[in-house]
Amino acid sequence: MQKLEVFGASRLKGQIKISGSKNASLPILAATLLSSKKIFLKNLPKVKDIETMISLLQSLGSKISYDGEKHIIDNSNQKKFFASYNLVKTMRAGILVLGPLLAKFGKAKVSLPGGCAIGTRPIDIHLKALSNLGVKYKIFQGYVHAIAPKGLIGTKIKFPQISVGATENLIIAASFAKGTTILSNCAVEPEVLDLVNFLKKIGCSIKWISKRCLSIKGVKKINEIIYSIMFDRIEAGTYLVAAAATEGNLRVKNVIPSLIKTELNILRKIGAKIKVKRNEIHIIGNKDIKNISFKTAPYPGFPTDLQAQFMVLLCKAKKDSFIKEDIFENRFMHVGELNRMGAQIKINGNKAIISGNTDFQAAELMATDLRASVSLIIAALTAKGKSVINRIYHLDRGYENLEKKLKKVGAKIKRSG
Ligand code: UD1
Repeated sequence: MQKLEVFGASRLKGQIKISGSKNASLPILAATLLSSKKIFLKNLPKVKDIETMISLLQSLGSKISYDGEKHIIDNSNQKKFFASYNLVKTMRAGILVLGPLLAKFGKAKVSLPGGCAIGTRPIDIHLKALSNLGVKYKIFQGYVHAIAPKGLIGTKIKFPQISVGATENLIIAASFAKGTTILSNCAVEPEVLDLVNFLKKIGCSIKWISKRCLSIKGVKKINEIIYSIMFDRIEAGTYLVAAAATEGNLRVKNVIPSLIKTELNILRKIGAKIKVKRNEIHIIGNKDIKNISFKTAPYPGFPTDLQAQFMVLLCKAKKDSFIKEDIFENRFMHVGELNRMGAQIKINGNKAIISGNTDFQAAELMATDLRASVSLIIAALTAKGKSVINRIYHLDRGYENLEKKLKKVGAKIKRSG
């Protein structure tokens, strides 16, 4: 099994170009199922989750190729509506094909994604909302068997809780339903907005009628388009934290700074110097890191996907900090490993109390999920000596060329095994 060796301490200096967003690419790839025309996608990140989604689409009959600049997705002969366990089990976002398959065929059989390390992650909100559109379903032998006897029929749906995936699944399904669907209490993450922009470009009729409310009129005709996926705001946030934690001097490029205001404000409060240009953020880390308290929340709140990385930074503050994790029930798995490196973090339910003044020590470590693994790498970059991070397949799910990008800005990092 592959591992990463990190030789610290390093100070990150230079420029990093941010890749396309994994979490925007996944629903957009699922949405291409609606189209019988060719779709050209630019800026899909080269990460494992995207490979898995491409394999899932291919298993459904999509023809997908890459011309060195863009992916060409041809669903003109896509006829299957069965998404198998083998592909959905490794990536929860596989459930995003349920909405488009039902919209296209009026039936679908999709594996339940199951639990994952960060919590039970049910799909009840997706299923309840789809049943409002006329879908009947049963769960049998680990699969959702769904059928829409009269096709999908537009209606008013209020999500009981904000869910990124359920919002995306329903937006895609409603785009091909009969009549108009009003979705309220929607997630408004930038990736949801990117999906809406994509769908509008292929010809769907979607309007925001208030901050969390969308009106979607079903359409039949889809245009052939070229679309470029937005930047990965979690990747950008990860490198900004790595720069702040290593007292670095980094320019993070290919970003839209206004989309990560919450994170930039926290970095400023912690003491980092930040200058923002149109497509670039320049960060200079400060030796004195200030303590802070925050909680994770749906956008525009602080993203749960950056909680682990910011925790590493707060370990180096002068006083105690607090983080409340309000999105996932079990997202503190990095804490055990960070404490093995010398951090003093206590967990009480969904709250973490982080004692500052930590000088991380190099250690052999175990990654447990995507964002937890990258938090261990940030800690290892600040620690003197060699750290070894095992189970890095988690990392490969979501970070394109991580070692290459970090090496270019001064990190000493090597993949082995
Ligand atoms: C997406 C992101 C993930 C991010 C998360 C929250 C993708 C591919 N993944 O995940 O990186 O951490 O948003 O910003 O975009 N829930 C239910 N029932 C449901 C659906 C969700 O109870 O049917 C709960 C979840 O368990 C969780 C919360 O709602 O506690 C939010 O989950 P959701 O927003 O749906 O996350 P994902 O779309 O899975």
